[in-house]
Amino acid sequence: MQRVAGEVFLSMDFAIQSACQPDGLHVGIIMDGNGRWAARRGLPRQAGHRAGARAVRTVVEAARRAGIGTLTLYAFSADNWARPEAEVAALMTLFRRALGKEAEHCAEQHIRLEVIGRRDRIARPLLLEIERAEERTAAGCRMLLRLAVDYSSRAALEAATRPVEFGSAEFGERLRRAVNARTAVETVDLVIRTGGEQRLSDFLLWEAAYAELFFTPRMWPDFEGEDLLAALRWFEARTRRFGGLEDRATASLVDS
Ligand code: FPP
Repeated sequence: MQRVAGEVFLSMDFAIQSACQPDGLHVGIIMDGNGRWAARRGLPRQAGHRAGARAVRTVVEAARRAGIGTLTLYAFSADNWARPEAEVAALMTLFRRALGKEAEHCAEQHIRLEVIGRRDRIARPLLLEIERAEERTAAGCRMLLRLAVDYSSRAALEAATRPVEFGSAEFGERLRRAVNARTAVETVDLVIRTGGEQRLSDFLLWEAAYAELFFTPRMWPDFEGEDLLAALRWFEARTRRFGGLEDRATASLVDS
């Protein structure tokens, strides 16, 4: 029997907090378009996901060099379980291998890796790899890299608001626990979505209250460090008022 997401989230005690708070811009990316990228090349969808995983490495590296504080990558939504079993299995294997491979690299680069989302539906081998990667990179203070896996912002909000009042001081902490995150990250500054769609798809709904939204038709596997920098330059040119009248300049991140 499937448990209600909220019960699952709240039954897990994820009270361990990380050593350092992330400093700097938080960029979220909805990595869309792997399937179409593959189809255009006459390849199976899985080939698109593999190419997507390579793009992840490139973009993480570019983000670190650009001095981004937190990068949240939407890798697998709670609704993605509805995909064919073979595709889901291939994605899970890809995540497990990538985590195994990248943890060491992240640790060397002082990047802290965290996976946010439900954990009770994740198979044990991947779960162990997630825990290993989080432990191995826990001391990293240069950038926080968050992979959203089996993630639903809406389910997290539902879990976090019960029974506290939405907007109360406790809410951010409840939300952190609801996505099993170690580090509290309450706002996302910039959300990038590749693949041509212009929607949030249940990603960081609360955190993105004042995020700038950057949509690009480029398919994720083709997204490169230079594309990230272009998005950051676009972000820098935005005027952010947060509901007030005064402009609040965006921090300069990228040399023009
Ligand atoms: C959406 O594109 C993409 C996904 C559901 C999977 C995202 C996964 C990756 C980018 C690989 C990540 C790897 C690591 C290591 C985190 P889609 O398949 O829905 O594309 P489509 O809309 O063109 O079909």
